[in-house]
Amino acid sequence: MSKKLIALSVLVMFVLAFGLAGCGQQSAKPAEQPKPKVLKVGSDTAFAPFEFQDEKSKEYVGFDMDLIKAIGKQMGMEVQVQSMNFDGLIPALEAGNIDATISAMTITDERAKKVNFTKPYYKSGLSMVVKADNNTLKTFKDLEGKRIAVQIGTTGADEAKKIKDAKIREFNTAPEAFMELKAGGVDAVVNDLPVNEYYIAQAGGKDAKTVGEPLTSEDYGIATSKKSTELADKINKALEELKKNGEYEKIYVKWFGKKPPQ
Ligand code: ARG
Repeated sequence: MSKKLIALSVLVMFVLAFGLAGCGQQSAKPAEQPKPKVLKVGSDTAFAPFEFQDEKSKEYVGFDMDLIKAIGKQMGMEVQVQSMNFDGLIPALEAGNIDATISAMTITDERAKKVNFTKPYYKSGLSMVVKADNNTLKTFKDLEGKRIAVQIGTTGADEAKKIKDAKIREFNTAPEAFMELKAGGVDAVVNDLPVNEYYIAQAGGKDAKTVGEPLTSEDYGIATSKKSTELADKINKALEELKKNGEYEKIYVKWFGKKPPQ
């Protein structure tokens, strides 16, 4: 047999084998399952214990992440989390790139002009963090004229800017603000209290501490597009259900070690 002929018969054999295999596969194919609808959720995933990346599994974990997954389940939707900068969340919602945000985001009048917020899902507030060995900065009043690190676009940044003569350094993420404090580049960080406490506890209290009374009382909400109230309504319903059936409390206790305030 000529080389050409061998090559040709090999080719024919291949075509036959694959062709038949293809037929077999087709007839054995199970009926298609309808895929669950996807809920695209944006979050700045560097804000433990609300949203952060698990070092080992690389998954996004935290109170907000558990809550939004439970809400998605309740609504029969598959949640897909997209990580982005905090100050990019509302623009992403407005552009229709995401359906919702859960990002320890405080419900403010300013933001409510641009997005729909769900009912509050977590009570928070701002506190200040100073170096563990600092004994001069005790209250927000003591921050006058001092160097303060904040995260861009946050309520912490807004409040810090109101402090007289303070020099504000803005960072993309909260961990970067904490790093600057550790490095001695600033005197304090103004940020959400539960996040500050978590950071300090993680570091074993060696580097930093919170001092003084909380500066504000704030409510976190999930935000959706202004274009429709339907999704916010659905999320509210799911949230209510999770509060009734004990699931919300379970998630709260898991991350904060105590029951949610009534
Ligand atoms: N609660 C603050 C605010 O809404 C800070 C939120 C920052 N969240 C985050 N995932 N980095 O402005």
